[in-house]
Amino acid sequence: MPITTAEFDYIRELVRNRSAIVLDPGKEYLVESRLVPLARSEGLESIADLVSELRNGSGAGRLATQVVEAMTTNETSFFRDVHPFEALRSAVLPDLLKKRSGERALTIWCGAASSGQEPYSIAMTIKEHFPELGGWSIRFLATDLSTEMLEKARAGRYAQIEANRGLPAHLLVKYFERRGTGWQVKDELRGMVDYRPLNLIEPWPSLPRCDLVFLRNVLIYFDVETKRAILEKIRQVLRPDGYLFLGAAETTMNIHDGFERVPIDRAGCYRPRGFGS
Ligand SMILES: C[S@@+](CC[C@H](N)C(=O)[O-])C[C@H]1O[C@@H](n2cnc3c(N)ncnc32)[C@H](O)[C@@H]1O
Repeated sequence: MPITTAEFDYIRELVRNRSAIVLDPGKEYLVESRLVPLARSEGLESIADLVSELRNGSGAGRLATQVVEAMTTNETSFFRDVHPFEALRSAVLPDLLKKRSGERALTIWCGAASSGQEPYSIAMTIKEHFPELGGWSIRFLATDLSTEMLEKARAGRYAQIEANRGLPAHLLVKYFERRGTGWQVKDELRGMVDYRPLNLIEPWPSLPRCDLVFLRNVLIYFDVETKRAILEKIRQVLRPDGYLFLGAAETTMNIHDGFERVPIDRAGCYRPRGFGS
């Protein structure tokens, strides 16, 4: 039976309250395609049963978390969009290396890391092009709302088809080893990234001051107020001369005037306004 308006409204309210992800009317098909398998795996017959379990069931809290996780879109790939990683290599890291040469420390945060391809792409960029950073203290935090994605990221195990998406062959053979039909990130890369759960709409008590923030392809799921609130929090954690990368379809423009775009072609790179050199 197709999802009713009342069921859809209940689910979208729950998802919005817990993750800020907006599910506009018209997304009923998406809710159905994601939640029917979840209902079945819980021994429930339909979305109607799932909603009634969410309303009254004893395991409603756990189930609500699963619903929210099921409604996240985890699409990602290695070196996604290419340009940000090119900008990182050619301009952003060279600049940070100069600015931090006294402290010899860098703090990097990847705020919607999904299954890990993005943080591992950043880590490979560092290893390949900045061997001098080997002697620095690098704190690299990667977070996501989805515990399932964090587990996959931490494990660092990828299917061939995932490796085929964006990962150059020479980096595949250098930083991964064959595991059955897939690939395993080598420990030298895996050990660089510290994966933790973090919901962007909850407080960020554990976040250190960052030199570099990647927050790509997640603001698109939120309304303008949520985007503004998150950008404001980034303004607090990002050092005044640090850098922020957003996704290709995202911008701070007309949302938060505390950032200015760094003119690097199609990189989606920003820095706090008034502090750049
Ligand atoms: C489309 S993926 C983007 C992955 C990667 N940044 C990229 O650009 O390839 C979006 C990620 O944002 C996460 N996400 C959605 N809402 C979130 C929230 N409120 N807090 C933290 N992460 C969230 C999802 O779990 C998902 O893994």
